[in-house]
Amino acid sequence: MLNNARRVIIICDKNIPRGISEVVEKSLVLNGFQIETILLQVSETTKSLYTITKLYHQFLKMRLDRICPVFTVGGGVIGDVTGFASATYMRGLPLFQIPTTFLAQVDSSIGGKVGINLSQGKNLVGTFYQPKATFIDPSLLLTLPESEIKCGLILNKDIFIFVSNNIEKIKTRNVAALEEIVKKMVYLKSRIVQKDEKDEKGFRVYLNYGHTIGHAIESAYQYKGISHGEAVSIGISMEARLAEKLGLVSCNLIKKQDRLLLDFGLPIRIEKPISAKKLINFMEFDKKTRDGRLCFVLPTNIGKGKFPVFVSRQLVQKILKEIIYE
Ligand SMILES: NC(=O)c1ccc[n+]([C@@H]2O[C@H](COP(=O)([O-])OP(=O)(O)OC[C@H]3O[C@@H](n4cnc5c(N)ncnc54)[C@H](O)[C@@H]3O)[C@@H](O)[C@H]2O)c1
Repeated sequence: MLNNARRVIIICDKNIPRGISEVVEKSLVLNGFQIETILLQVSETTKSLYTITKLYHQFLKMRLDRICPVFTVGGGVIGDVTGFASATYMRGLPLFQIPTTFLAQVDSSIGGKVGINLSQGKNLVGTFYQPKATFIDPSLLLTLPESEIKCGLILNKDIFIFVSNNIEKIKTRNVAALEEIVKKMVYLKSRIVQKDEKDEKGFRVYLNYGHTIGHAIESAYQYKGISHGEAVSIGISMEARLAEKLGLVSCNLIKKQDRLLLDFGLPIRIEKPISAKKLINFMEFDKKTRDGRLCFVLPTNIGKGKFPVFVSRQLVQKILKEIIYE
C-alpha cells in the first residue's frame, strides 16, 4: 500500500491537540519511515487555490516524487484541501486520511470527494480521489468541542432513531455510543459510495440534503461566524419546509427533525441580515442546478427522499424569508 516509500508527509491541522499527530508520527517512525510534517492553520477559507498553490510549492521544495504518501490529520477542511493537492500534484500522490472530527469520520474522509471553494461558492473545484486507506479512531473525538458533534440525520431511519435515543451519550462523548454511531454512518456512506462512486447514478446525491441552502448560507457569510455543520443544519430545516410546501412531507416530520437539530444545539434560523436574493444567487452556482433551474434533494419521509426536485425561485424566496432578517 505504501509502494516501498521511505518518506511520508503528514499534513495536519495546526489547531488540533499536538498529541494526535505525534501518535501518527511515532508509529510511522517506528516502522522505519522518515517523516516531515506540514502544519496548516485551518478554517473554511483554507479550502482555497491559495493554499493549494502553497502546498504545491512546499511539495516541490521537499522534492516529493509520485510514490511519496501523504497522511492528512484533521477534520473535513484538511481532508478536502490536502486531498485535492495530493490528487493533482504530479497527477496523484498516495493519500491516507486520519479524520479527527465527527463529520470527517462519518462523511468527508469516505468516498473520495476532495475540493476547494471559490468566492462564488463552496466546493466548486474538485475531483474524486480515493484514499488508499482511512483510519478512524472515535476516541480522537474526545477533545472536540461540543459544537462540533453533529449528525447527518435523514439518510436512514435506524440512524435517526439511534441518534434520537442517544442524544446525551453522543453529546457527552460516550466512547461506546460514538463508536456505534460512527460505525453505522461509515457503513451507510460507504454503501452509497460503492453504488455511485462518481455521483452519476442518483444515489450519492442524497448525501446532499440540506446542502443547497446550507452552502449558500456559508458563502453569504463568507465562511465567517458559521460552521459548515450549522449552515447545513439550517439548510436541512429549510429544505424540509420546501418539501412540506410541495406536499412531500408532513409538518410532523419537520417538527421531529427540528427538535433533534435543536437538541444538538444546532441552529435552524439565520442570525445575520442576509437577503433572500443573495442566497438565491449563490444557489445558482450549486452543482445540482440544471439549465438555470434550482434543484433540490428533498425528504419524503425519514430515511427517504426525492431527486431531482426543481423548485421555482419564488417558492424558495418565500421559504427563505421565513428564516432571515433582511
Ligand atoms: N469531501 C466530502 O465528501 C465532504 C463531506 C462533508 C463535508 N465536507 C467538508 O468538510 C468541511 C467541514 O469539516 P469539519 O466539520 O471537520 O471542519 P474543520 O476541519 O474545520 O474542523 C472543525 C474544527 O475542529 C477542530 N478540530 C479538528 N479535530 C479536532 C480534535 N480532534 N480535537 C479538537 N479540535 C479539533 C479544527 O481545528 C476546527 O477548528 C467543510 O469544508 C465541508 O465542505 C466534505
